[in-house]
Amino acid sequence: MAKVLVVGGGGREQALAWKLVQSSSVTTVYVAPGNGGSAGSVKNVSIGFTDTEALVAFAKDNSIDLCVIGQETASEAGVVDAFRENGLAVFGPTKQSVRIETSKVFSKDMMASERIPTATYKHFTDPRAARTYANSRSLPVVIKADGLATGKGVIIAENTQAVDEAIDTIMVKQAFGSAGNIVIVEDFLKGQELSMHALSDGTVSVVFPPSQDHKQIFAGDRGPNTGGMGAYAPLDWVSNKVLGEIKETVIEPALSGLKKRGSTFVGCLYPGLMLDGSDVKVLEFNARFGDPEAQVYMRLLEGDLYEILLACVHGRLDPNLVSWRSGYGVCVVLASAGYPGEYQKGLLIDGIAEAEALDKDIVVFHAGTKRNENGQLVTAGGRVLNVTAIGSTLEQALRKAYKAVQLIHFEGMQYREDIGQRPN
Ligand SMILES: Nc1ncnc2c1ncn2[C@@H]1O[C@H](COP(=O)(O)OP(=O)(O)O)[C@@H](O)[C@H]1O
Ligand SMILES: [Mg+2]
Repeated sequence: MAKVLVVGGGGREQALAWKLVQSSSVTTVYVAPGNGGSAGSVKNVSIGFTDTEALVAFAKDNSIDLCVIGQETASEAGVVDAFRENGLAVFGPTKQSVRIETSKVFSKDMMASERIPTATYKHFTDPRAARTYANSRSLPVVIKADGLATGKGVIIAENTQAVDEAIDTIMVKQAFGSAGNIVIVEDFLKGQELSMHALSDGTVSVVFPPSQDHKQIFAGDRGPNTGGMGAYAPLDWVSNKVLGEIKETVIEPALSGLKKRGSTFVGCLYPGLMLDGSDVKVLEFNARFGDPEAQVYMRLLEGDLYEILLACVHGRLDPNLVSWRSGYGVCVVLASAGYPGEYQKGLLIDGIAEAEALDKDIVVFHAGTKRNENGQLVTAGGRVLNVTAIGSTLEQALRKAYKAVQLIHFEGMQYREDIGQRPN
């Protein structure tokens, strides 16, 4: 019987653990560091997700059969490389192959040479040259820090002054540290954003149904960007023709491009795309499951996640292992007041059991939660809970999720009321 270690502490990792523990081969799932949602056969391990040595030692001491990387910073810190060096099975990209997410310059240059459709761009180490190029393009123009910047390193500049400020913030003031040593200046794309996910064993890939995340904090896509306020899948408004094109012009060339560069990709490749009519362009590649997309996918996935991920690790991924229940899945994120800015922690949470008791199709995944000294469940992050539901129609899934949301309470709780509604 197998033991699994999931690396990360958000709602995504709880959803992966929830699905993994349903495998008839799995007895225990450890989550490092996990959150207040771990219970029963899902257990927290208090190791940070970049503490490579401690993670390897834990895996050895506890005879872990599979390690699943949820969080990209773990891959960037070399956790996957260290597991492999120690002969441990690990699902996730190496330090080399995670660059498709962690360096936007590497990623854009690869897209250019593999002819993967993306916005026209240039990259710069000199702020003056960046400014000159940006001002030569039509506005708005998009300025991006090269490295990981917790989702804050992309600035859409509407005018010349905003261009100056963006370049100043990223390159001169180094608001995101060395992530801003290089900037990309790229053309603005209009359209609908969508998320694609594909599992890869290095050779074979399996593409998931499309999903959409809602990034801004307020309904109608207003306010600042967040880690994601909700998601739904599949998307009725994306045709099979477009999906086929995404597989052929985006996913396959990205995987073969990485292989060519000695960075064979084992893990979940998740491109963020802009769809304008039937015109597809890549905004970025991520090298892990999306959060909150994973929460929806785990509700819809049929088949044994442990067997699927293990097959990826051993280079024997079979598309027949992956199937999807019919109908729709949704996730509504419940966030702390003030998020994505400053917010208070330690506020009491109640109503989760009542919400889940409403309907077997409702599952609440914990994100920023923990148990306090008295064993009470309290808030511990910006995104606190993920209320998920499935239904035979999107409307039905949404109705269930929002009914569940009404029963959950913590002070200042905020959420979007328009999850699953395609913005115009
Ligand atoms: N070229 C572009 N045109 C329009 N919007 C963009 C463009 N690039 C990025 N964005 C917007 O900025 C968000 C963040 O950009 P992205 O490249 O995904 O970086 P990250 O997720 O690392 O912050 C996207 O989800 C999208 O809303
Ligand atoms: Mg993104």
